[in-house]
Amino acid sequence: MEYLTIGNIKIKKTAALAPMAGVADTAYRTAAKRFGAAYVVGEMVSIKGLAYSDRKSAELLTITDAERPAAVQLFGCEPEFVPAAVEIAERYKPDIIDFNAGCPVPKVAGNGSGSALMKEPKLFGEMVAAIVKAAHVPVTVKIRAGWDAEHINACETAHIAEECGAAAVAVHGRTRTQMYTGKADREIIARVKQTVRIPVTLDERLGVMREQIELLVRCKGEFTGMKEARAQAAFYLKGMTGAARYRGMCGRLSDLKGLYDLIDLIKAENGE
Ligand SMILES: Cc1cc2nc3c(=O)[nH]c(=O)nc-3n(C[C@H](O)[C@H](O)[C@H](O)COP(=O)(O)O)c2cc1C
Repeated sequence: MEYLTIGNIKIKKTAALAPMAGVADTAYRTAAKRFGAAYVVGEMVSIKGLAYSDRKSAELLTITDAERPAAVQLFGCEPEFVPAAVEIAERYKPDIIDFNAGCPVPKVAGNGSGSALMKEPKLFGEMVAAIVKAAHVPVTVKIRAGWDAEHINACETAHIAEECGAAAVAVHGRTRTQMYTGKADREIIARVKQTVRIPVTLDERLGVMREQIELLVRCKGEFTGMKEARAQAAFYLKGMTGAARYRGMCGRLSDLKGLYDLIDLIKAENGE
């Protein structure tokens, strides 16, 4: 079984349940888990509401053991409320705290939270940094492709999240203007993956690289396949910490054993 690693949390690479306010309550999440979801995210909860000890918000944070690994999701745009809110959220023992910077509904985005933060990179970074500072578990961030078709900035936003300490980023491949209609843009998700170095891409990226090169060798033989694999492997490693040294090693690959050794080395050096 392959795993995705977020911070210190290992998640089976099958399927995850996306957060859905008003839908994905504990019963729904438990059912999703029973039918194979490896990871679930709770309904979004207001940071400000929590800081004021809003009892209803707190109820939304309850996670049963059957759901784990599971995240709670917070939204808000006022960093000063973050420490108190995170302290309350962590009483429910989430494995991960996810920050919502993608919600399009007027009640949320109209108040500067959710997807509105994609227009405010400084405040977005402050929120992520404040949550990371207050939390004792890995923090992930959910973003959209951008505010509208003229402002596609998922890559820049993901990069800020990474710089501010997020352990992973999830991308809803629609703009705020699209709300939930139209086709989600998978291309922007791929572009974000190439932009950030955080572990959510690492294990998956190395797995895909290995599969592709094994196939290449099956099709063209080890000698020619591995020659062609050098440039392709280097492409997969673009942007990650230590990429220049790893790319040098790619240039000398001559057999699959060398590829497996390189993958092991990258994983060992990147805490996988
Ligand atoms: C009813 C509903 C509620 C949602 N609530 C949330 C939410 O609270 N937080 C969040 O990050 N995304 C929320 N989303 C977005 C989903 O998590 C997901 O990113 C989106 O539906 C895109 O997935 P798709 O391409 O499979 O449609 C919601 C989506 C739906 C349909």
